[in-house]
Amino acid sequence: MVQEVVQSLSPQDHETYLDVTFGQGGHARAILNTAQCSLIASDRDTLAQKAAEKLSQEKLKGQFLGCSLNRFSDITDTLQHHGIKSVDGLIADFGLSSPQINNPERGFSFKHDGPLDMRMGENTLSAQEFIASSDEQELSFTFKHYGEERFAKSVARAIVKARQVQAITSTLQLAHIVRSAIPHSSQKIDPATRTFQAIRIVVNSELNEIKALLNASPHILKAGARIVIISFHSLEDRLVKQFFRQHAQNHPHINRHLPSPPDFPPPLFSLPFHKPLSPSQDEININPRARSARLRLALRTHAPS
Ligand SMILES: C[S@@+](CC[C@H](N)C(=O)[O-])C[C@H]1O[C@@H](n2cnc3c(N)ncnc32)[C@H](O)[C@@H]1O
Repeated sequence: MVQEVVQSLSPQDHETYLDVTFGQGGHARAILNTAQCSLIASDRDTLAQKAAEKLSQEKLKGQFLGCSLNRFSDITDTLQHHGIKSVDGLIADFGLSSPQINNPERGFSFKHDGPLDMRMGENTLSAQEFIASSDEQELSFTFKHYGEERFAKSVARAIVKARQVQAITSTLQLAHIVRSAIPHSSQKIDPATRTFQAIRIVVNSELNEIKALLNASPHILKAGARIVIISFHSLEDRLVKQFFRQHAQNHPHINRHLPSPPDFPPPLFSLPFHKPLSPSQDEININPRARSARLRLALRTHAPS
């Protein structure tokens, strides 16, 4: 959704932007090619730093100030590192980059065999360790809440049974166990999709990271700044939607029959559109993985954070 990102962020000369999901630098490059702006980037994966070195060598309209190895929850450190307190725009493009998904050694894909890893960065717990050390209840909770898996209990039971016979160490081994625990149906997606998503979310503490990013955002965005967020599944998008709605309201409507409190703080954001943008059919045809992407835009108001 590069075009939609650039349109939403609307890069202007002499402004500074922060890309907290640098990945391969696709969005950063497009932003820097649009205006004589500056851009700071971060990503929790060292892969991004190699791509950042390449971007630094390119001739761009704007100025690339580098990519730090930071998580969303380190966002203030990222800015401090550059001696900057606030920016004119922020872009976050959740999920995985293509090199992360396509490299079997990273363990994200259930289509190729590889070690059961799934760590995006320097986390402590790998997917293999999570699967080996969690009890049936914890596994079932994870698959239900972070994978929205209807058959969470059966999948958890099958994993516990299988690991009593042999340690679960590879992606194809796990995918096979999961598929065998889910009744065959006409569903289009691979039955292992939801379980893999759930494990990845837990291993990388993904939802907590998103909450940390959202909570920090009003403090680091200048008045008039744009924040553009692309989510890939409903759990991510729900957090973003609720956060923006909550902070774009003048006051919580606790009881619509009562007058609103007069001294309630003004909203931190305004929302140019309530429904998220989706990728064009042309983009989905080229990159089918983009089909579930949802882009939300919010504008920081003048209200103090
Ligand atoms: C979909 S890719 C971004 C692709 C990028 N927009 C581009 O144009 O190449 C998502 C990136 O976000 C990074 N990421 C995900 N969660 C993160 C977090 N909590 N903190 C920092 N980076 C994170 C991943 O490592 C990955 O490189």
